[in-house]
Amino acid sequence: MRVFVAGATGAIGKQLVPRLVEAGHEVHGMTRSESKQAMLHERGSVPVVADALDPAQVAQAVGRARPDVIVHQLTAIPATLDLRHFDRDFALTNRLRTEGTDHLLSAGQAVGVRRFVAQSNFASYARTGGPVKSEEDPLDPAPAREMRETLAAIRHLEEAVLGARWTEGIVLRYGAFYGPGTSGAPGGEQFELVRKRKFPLVGDGGGVWSFIHIADAAEATVAAVERGSRGAYNVVDDDPAPVAEWLTAPAPAWPSPASSPGRSILAPPVWRGSRSRSMATPRRVGRRRAT
Ligand SMILES: NC(=O)c1ccc[n+]([C@@H]2O[C@H](COP(=O)([O-])OP(=O)(O)OC[C@H]3O[C@@H](n4cnc5c(N)ncnc54)[C@H](OP(=O)(O)O)[C@@H]3O)[C@@H](O)[C@H]2O)c1
Repeated sequence: MRVFVAGATGAIGKQLVPRLVEAGHEVHGMTRSESKQAMLHERGSVPVVADALDPAQVAQAVGRARPDVIVHQLTAIPATLDLRHFDRDFALTNRLRTEGTDHLLSAGQAVGVRRFVAQSNFASYARTGGPVKSEEDPLDPAPAREMRETLAAIRHLEEAVLGARWTEGIVLRYGAFYGPGTSGAPGGEQFELVRKRKFPLVGDGGGVWSFIHIADAAEATVAAVERGSRGAYNVVDDDPAPVAEWLTAPAPAWPSPASSPGRSILAPPVWRGSRSRSMATPRRVGRRRAT
């Protein structure tokens, strides 16, 4: 298949592109930077330079590639997040999830893409009911004040993608990324904050987070590209982690990917063609730091 990846140079894009190429697909990878074309080329994809917030550029890029599938992995998440100003830090990501999604969808409709796979997030469920959330659980209708715009952008993305009846719209609600190229890797911002016990505590620390190794997230995305059907899917590992545990551990000790040799029994691949379950999201944004 011809696959157009928007966000091909990002944390997940870097893992996804070579896997799609390896699986035999013709991959067109989008970036804003002329200078990143060589990197995309080295990973086996056709580089495409376009700004996702410019509808004409997106239409032209997608029109040239004429893909069967579009994958939307556009984000612009700062290395350091201030949870008290979450919406401010996510402002550009929110535009990519609203305007960017709309531009990609309309460009995809113009060329008749068969599937449209988009990145969403596990941390969007309503903070009611039990801690385990399936895809049928509602998104948070009343998010914390600091996250209202971010949750609205996710809702927009999901409704637009799942509502696109002319294609197979698929929404992947990834857990929190860790592994190479993410801020959850040793030396990365999030890893170091946890290690130094400076990661801000969310609420009373009673929440549960779902994580996903970046390699497993990419594997699940390949499966969605190749055989996914319309719907929202939690893409999370099988070891949901109470905040109080991972935040106070002496050092972050996240497991290797389920897809790596030797871990296939304990941690089965995240995508099985059926929906999985993830754990509840943080309850509210607090000001305390873990000490
Ligand atoms: N579920 C999660 O936990 C989750 C999800 C996403 C990100 N993150 C984390 O956030 C951190 C930053 O990752 P990131 O993926 O946001 O940043 P990133 O690694 O810089 O990737 C963002 C991608 O979006 C593209 N992009 C952004 N704005 C664009 C625009 N206007 N037009 C075209 N392409 C555009 C970038 O392309 P160019 O820069 O090449 O133009 C790049 O490919 C990482 O630590 C990552 O692990 C976590």
